[in-house]
Amino acid sequence: MQWMIYGANGYTGSMVAEEACRRGLRPLLGGRDAHRLAPLAQKLGLETRIFNLDSPAQCQQALAGVNAVAHCAGPFVSTAVPMARACLEAGAHYLDISGELPAIEAVARLENEARRKNVVLCPSVGWDVLPTDCFAAQLARALPDAEEFSLALHSTMAVSSGTAKSSLGLLAQPTLLRRDGRLQPVARRRHLRQIDFGRNLNLLCAPATWGDLASAGRSTGIANISVYLPLGGGRLEAWAEPLIRALLGREWVRRKLSRLIERNLPGPDAQALAHTTVHVWGEVKNRRGEGRIGRMTTGNPYLITMHGVLATIEHLDRYAGPGGYFTPSQLLGADVITRIPGCGPIVIEPARSERASHQESR
Ligand SMILES: NC(=O)c1ccc[n+]([C@@H]2O[C@H](COP(=O)([O-])OP(=O)(O)OC[C@H]3O[C@@H](n4cnc5c(N)ncnc54)[C@H](OP(=O)(O)O)[C@@H]3O)[C@@H](O)[C@H]2O)c1
Repeated sequence: MQWMIYGANGYTGSMVAEEACRRGLRPLLGGRDAHRLAPLAQKLGLETRIFNLDSPAQCQQALAGVNAVAHCAGPFVSTAVPMARACLEAGAHYLDISGELPAIEAVARLENEARRKNVVLCPSVGWDVLPTDCFAAQLARALPDAEEFSLALHSTMAVSSGTAKSSLGLLAQPTLLRRDGRLQPVARRRHLRQIDFGRNLNLLCAPATWGDLASAGRSTGIANISVYLPLGGGRLEAWAEPLIRALLGREWVRRKLSRLIERNLPGPDAQALAHTTVHVWGEVKNRRGEGRIGRMTTGNPYLITMHGVLATIEHLDRYAGPGGYFTPSQLLGADVITRIPGCGPIVIEPARSERASHQESR
């Protein structure tokens, strides 16, 4: 299979390219800037294709003969749909590493065309959301009539400039939850929750607009979904939400911050890649108040992203199923995380009130 990494000169794209070569794969390297792509192409001895996503003609030429694209160029709110459309035109499968809710939903809206053209669209095969999508699917399996899913994530990891810039755009938007299948804006300060991540890590968390609000709904069929992140700045951070949003809503503020980020965030070094731990907590509940709690840890998100992209490419190489839009767990199976280095295991137990009543009835 001929496949391409687009955005290959970025922090994450180049990690994927290097690991692909270590596994004996020979991807094409795609990007918009020949000079920035050249050093990696020379180092790995790989062919490059230079093209701009705002030119459909360039995209068509560059994707001729390509069977799959691993799209690693974000912010995906600007790049996902142009690349997904180019893939549909070229008949190439599309996967990306977006964790951006609006980008995931926009790609999902192309599903009818993907079915007609027998093309797979699978956004978010990176750390956000591949492991948590599998986590959600396994929790839902443990309580099949669940109507509510809550997810929380905790890490103190260093991020790349691409991740920080993509986050700026999201923080400028209202915080969302999914209620009865629909996304709803909420005030973070009104939905604070104390979450027990295990290992004596009990943290005050607030809702966050995260990619799982799109993927977990698809993968589990659950209509009420919330994602929480710890409040590093305490309650003040939740109260400051309107101010932060108003500031980041200004184009010039985002531009200045983006420049600052580009100069100061090189991305996690080898030490950080090897030693980051992310704690994942999830809860499903049904109408009768029964619940299951799941916990899992993962290694560094950039390494997991690299493995997620390659697991998906290897799967697509053997794939003979229909086209359409898929979440990672729908395409790869919810057990794929057992094959992703640094993920899991997922530990699921009855929620506390239920556990107590089980013990009483013994
Ligand atoms: N889901 C996850 O868990 C996960 C994990 C890792 C990364 N990500 C996301 O992946 C994206 C890339 O991250 P990174 O760490 O690799 O960032 P990075 O080092 O800043 O690289 C960004 C790459 O995207 C390219 N790019 C940006 N805007 C573009 C556009 N409009 N058209 C074409 N190419 C464009 C850049 O090209 P130039 O060099 O030419 O500017 C560069 O190749 C970010 O959005 C990040 O949030 C997600």
